[in-house]
Amino acid sequence: MELTEATEGGTTFLVPVQDDTQQFPPGSAPIFFNPRMKLNRDATVLLLSILQPSDYLDAMGATGIRGLRVANECGIPVTISDRDPVAIELITRNVQRSGIPVTVIQRDVNALLSEQSFDAVDLDPFGTPAPFVDAGVKGTRRFLFVTATDTAPLCGAHLKAGIRRYSAVPMNTEYHSEVGLRILLGFVVRQTARYDRGVEPIFCYAREHFVRLHLRLLRGTKAADDTLRQTGYIHQCRKCPYREQEPGILSSSRTCPHCGELLQPIGPLWLGDLHNRAILAEMQARIGTMKPGSEKALVKLLDCCREELPVPGFYDYHVLAKRLGCSPPEITVVLSRITAEGYPASRTHFSGYGIKTEAPLSVIFDAVRGHPQE
Ligand SMILES: C[S@@+](CC[C@H](N)C(=O)[O-])C[C@H]1O[C@@H](n2cnc3c(N)ncnc32)[C@H](O)[C@@H]1O
Ligand SMILES: [Zn+2]
Repeated sequence: MELTEATEGGTTFLVPVQDDTQQFPPGSAPIFFNPRMKLNRDATVLLLSILQPSDYLDAMGATGIRGLRVANECGIPVTISDRDPVAIELITRNVQRSGIPVTVIQRDVNALLSEQSFDAVDLDPFGTPAPFVDAGVKGTRRFLFVTATDTAPLCGAHLKAGIRRYSAVPMNTEYHSEVGLRILLGFVVRQTARYDRGVEPIFCYAREHFVRLHLRLLRGTKAADDTLRQTGYIHQCRKCPYREQEPGILSSSRTCPHCGELLQPIGPLWLGDLHNRAILAEMQARIGTMKPGSEKALVKLLDCCREELPVPGFYDYHVLAKRLGCSPPEITVVLSRITAEGYPASRTHFSGYGIKTEAPLSVIFDAVRGHPQE
């Protein structure tokens, strides 16, 4: 295997040479490394430098860069594991070169976490994390982090796969990226509640081809019940942009008050907030001293996440403008017109054209059109 040096967050490490002529170069090498996930790693390192867990498991190490960076940049005791013996060889070599004391274990994540627990656990698999979440919950004392790159099943583009993996029905709506994140979070919450534990989302976001959850796990039946109460359904009209939410395990049959169409339930999914805004503020305050390479993009993401209203689902106002037959104004204009009517409204990190608000559709339509309907 031909290796080359790469550097991230001040850590230099070896990665297999990739075939850049391939459509997805990371898939061409025997051990996985995707430089485009740098922001994902930067965000986690930044967050861990604040949370300071007593230890951290990078359960799917590949080259080991994630765990190495946490050890190097956060000063937290780190274990890196992977089930692949070739990956373990490279991780061991990278750990030795770095001179940072890190424990390396070759083990299947489900086996490891049924025997050993860690204060913080990071699941970063290929595609879906669904087969690892149960072990992840059992082996996590406080912080569970999860990446999913199977956005097509999560967002409703591959409906049957989404239903099989997450025991939930997604839907390919204009806010499908948010549906994907909330389906995954709802799934993790249901898996966690079985152990009489609750979940507090700290920083959960969707970007490009992945969804990322940073969660605090809570103890006790009350925490579990309070968390479960924040799951339920979004009922979406298939003919118009109308939607409404319904908390709970069961979904009822509902009709669109605008066009009389039967509403389609999406879920069960997470309906609650996606972030702990005080921690996001701390991350922003700290980012200047940490100076990760993706600083600009990360600041923008954190800004957007802090600002966005905790409302499930957003409206794509360009889609609305097309529907209304008008040209879309600036997003700031639409937002201020909605707030002038007495309804909070915000942008969202999910989409540059996304608007979050609980205003009635008539108010949103008027804000996009710039005048009331004649
Ligand atoms: C997407 S890569 C991890 C990338 C890495 N965390 C990073 O940030 O660069 C997924 C890794 O999970 C490992 N893996 C897959 N299934 C596993 C399992 N059941 N137990 C442990 N490791 C597993 C693979 O060998 C692979 O190295
Ligand atoms: Zn309708």
